[in-house]
Amino acid sequence: MRRLSLVGRVVVLAATVAIVVVLIVAGALVAIISLRHAQVRESRAKDVTTATLRVENIAFDLESSLRGYTLTGSPRFLVLFGDARKAMPAALRHLETLVRDDREQLRRAQATNGFLHDYVTDYAVPVINIRRFSPSIARSSVASDEDKRRARDIRGTLGKILAVEQTRSAARAAHARNLARTAIIVGVIALALSAAIVLLFGAWVARAVAAPVRRTSEAAAQVAAGDFDVRVEERGAGEVGALVGAFNSMTRALEHGRQELIEQNERLRESEEHKRDLISMVSHEIRTPLASVCGFTSLLLEREFERDEERRYLEIIDQQARRLAGIAGDFLDVQLLEGGGLKLDRAPFDLVELTREQAHLFFSHSSHALELEVPDTPLVVNGDRDRIAQVIGNLLSNAIKYSPAGAEVRVLLELEDGGARLSVVDEGMGISADDHGRVFEKFYRGSDAASAIGGTGLGLAVAREIVTSHGGEIGVESETSRGSTFTVRLPVDF
Ligand SMILES: Nc1ncnc2c1ncn2[C@@H]1O[C@H](COP(=O)(O)OP(=O)(O)O)[C@@H](O)[C@H]1O
Ligand SMILES: [Mg+2]
Repeated sequence: MRRLSLVGRVVVLAATVAIVVVLIVAGALVAIISLRHAQVRESRAKDVTTATLRVENIAFDLESSLRGYTLTGSPRFLVLFGDARKAMPAALRHLETLVRDDREQLRRAQATNGFLHDYVTDYAVPVINIRRFSPSIARSSVASDEDKRRARDIRGTLGKILAVEQTRSAARAAHARNLARTAIIVGVIALALSAAIVLLFGAWVARAVAAPVRRTSEAAAQVAAGDFDVRVEERGAGEVGALVGAFNSMTRALEHGRQELIEQNERLRESEEHKRDLISMVSHEIRTPLASVCGFTSLLLEREFERDEERRYLEIIDQQARRLAGIAGDFLDVQLLEGGGLKLDRAPFDLVELTREQAHLFFSHSSHALELEVPDTPLVVNGDRDRIAQVIGNLLSNAIKYSPAGAEVRVLLELEDGGARLSVVDEGMGISADDHGRVFEKFYRGSDAASAIGGTGLGLAVAREIVTSHGGEIGVESETSRGSTFTVRLPVDF
């Protein structure tokens, strides 16, 4: 089943509470109306009782005044009798009207009416008339069975009416009491139920809405304080759960963004450092050869020297000028690399011959011991001879620069898997494992030991660019203080 949204749940709960309240009110109304009804019927029964007692009184007045007159002959009793006789029809009518909806009671009321009328017309009035002539006959007749029978008949029906009304009234009172009790019980239960529903709803709101919202706001405060690692437990009803989820994605995105900024900043800082190093390195690299060139030229211009000495100075000037040109060339090359403008002037050439040539160029003036192992037959490569010469020259100058005077440098060239492999192996200071990947980056210069030795950090970057442009690859294997092996692989296309 699909989980209801938060709004949906609130609506369902509110509707339930509303229905319960409506039911309670409706139940209370029904109970009140029933109670009212029961009360009306109870009071009707009381009215009937009163009316019956009134008739009974009249009957008693009739009997007692008749008996008083026959015994004493006093006209006072005749007045009493007359009053009772006059009041009789109204009292009887009133009783009949009250019980007109009840056939049995109406029949009894009518019977009473008949008995009373008969009593007055057929018995009491003749007895009064007789009393005038013969008091003794009248007295004996009042004491007769006839008198007792009529009185019993009247009392009997009236008693019946009373008894019936009394039982009814008692039953109605009991019914009303029951109804009231039931109404109270139902009302209390319904109230307790709605209170429980409201309480449960409150508890649910606290757990499913308030708690996650509070957790999220606390986490938001942490985020505001700069802690992007906070995550809120993804629990909560409908939209609240979605809010928590969205909050977590937001902090993840923020954290990611911050991490990127930190990395970017770090890169910027590094490049700024590189730039600073570069400037100091360039000024340092240029100053030394420039000082030699200037110093020796002024010396030669100021004084006359022996031919040999003059030549020695000129050689130094030439060497240092070349060094300057080399540095300038490196920078030019780097600019070319950055602009992607390295153009190769390809033509077939013999790599064996080029390797020999470069080795002699670099080792003729060096104290290092060269061991050259090259094939006897030519190894023809289709490429830019000058650029490949630059690569070999770079590797050889590094091998000489980063190993102690007199150490051995091996240069090996061989054919391998249809390609040429050139290795330059030295026994120098080596490169720490951390630096292996970075020595080919431009301007990167190795450990402190390497920094103590002059250089631009451009040679290997240029070399890698040249080799990869030829479809080849360049790599290094090295161990600190044990020496390094730089290997270049070039495809042989013929
Ligand atoms: N044969 C080697 N032995 C030890 N370290 C080397 C060798 N060749 C290169 N390196 C390291 O690689 C770095 C980059 O070399 P390179 O690009 O030629 O620049 P440079 O020689 O001007 O410093 C050097 O600074 C050095 O730390
Ligand atoms: Mg170098």
